Amino acid sequence: MNARAFIFDAYGTLFDVHAAIAHYRKRIGPDADRISEVWRTKQLEYTWTLTAMNRYENFERLTERALDFALARHEKNDPALRADLLAAYRELNAYPDAKDALHALKQSGKTTGILSNGSPEMLQAAVDAAGIGGVLDHVLSVDVLRIYKPRQEVYALVTKALSVQPEEIVFVSSNRWDVAGAAGFGFKPVWVNRSKMPDEYADLAPVATLDSLAALSALEL
Ligand code: 2OP
Repeated sequence: MNARAFIFDAYGTLFDVHAAIAHYRKRIGPDADRISEVWRTKQLEYTWTLTAMNRYENFERLTERALDFALARHEKNDPALRADLLAAYRELNAYPDAKDALHALKQSGKTTGILSNGSPEMLQAAVDAAGIGGVLDHVLSVDVLRIYKPRQEVYALVTKALSVQPEEIVFVSSNRWDVAGAAGFGFKPVWVNRSKMPDEYADLAPVATLDSLAALSALEL
C-alpha cells in the first residue's frame, strides 16, 4: 500500500448508528427499526439543510432533534426512553471489525484518523467507549468549521492536519454520499457497503468497495 494515511468516517462506518435502538428493541416494540431509520435519515437531512442555509448547530443537538422527530412520528412520547437512547448514542458499539482493521493499519505503519460530523465531545465519548483511542492518530470534527460534509472544506481539514496531498489519503466511509464528497476532493475513497445498497453517484466512484472493514488492510492502494 502506498497511501500514507487511512481516515475513517465515524457514524455508520466505525460506530453502528443502529446500536442505540437495538439496545432497547424490546422496550420500543415493532417500530424499533423504522424509528432507527428515521432517526438517522433526519439527523443527516438536518446537516445538509443547515449547511445549505449557512446555519449551524452541532451534531449532538441535531441528533436530539432527529430523535424527537422519529419518536413523535411513531407516537412514542416517552422522556425516559428518549434520555436512554441519547445516552446509548453517546456510547455506540463499534462494529466488530473496526478495532482489528485499525490495529492492522497501525501495524503496517499507516497514519489513522477519524473525520466526522460528530461534535468533539461526542466523538471522544464514542472513541473512549469503543476503546480505539490507542489506534487513532487524529480525531477531526467539522465543528471547527461549523459546516457539514460533503462541503469540500471539511475534507481539507485532513490534508491540513496531516500536511499531505489528497491522493495520499484513503478515506473510508459506509455513506455513499460521503464517498462521493471524498472522491470530489481527490481522496482515494473506499466504500464499506455493509448493507449491500445499490451504487449511486457514478461519476464520483470509490476506488474499492468492501463488505466490511476486514479486507481493508489487504487492499493495494
Ligand atoms: C459522520 O460524519 C456522516 O455520520 C457521518 O460521522
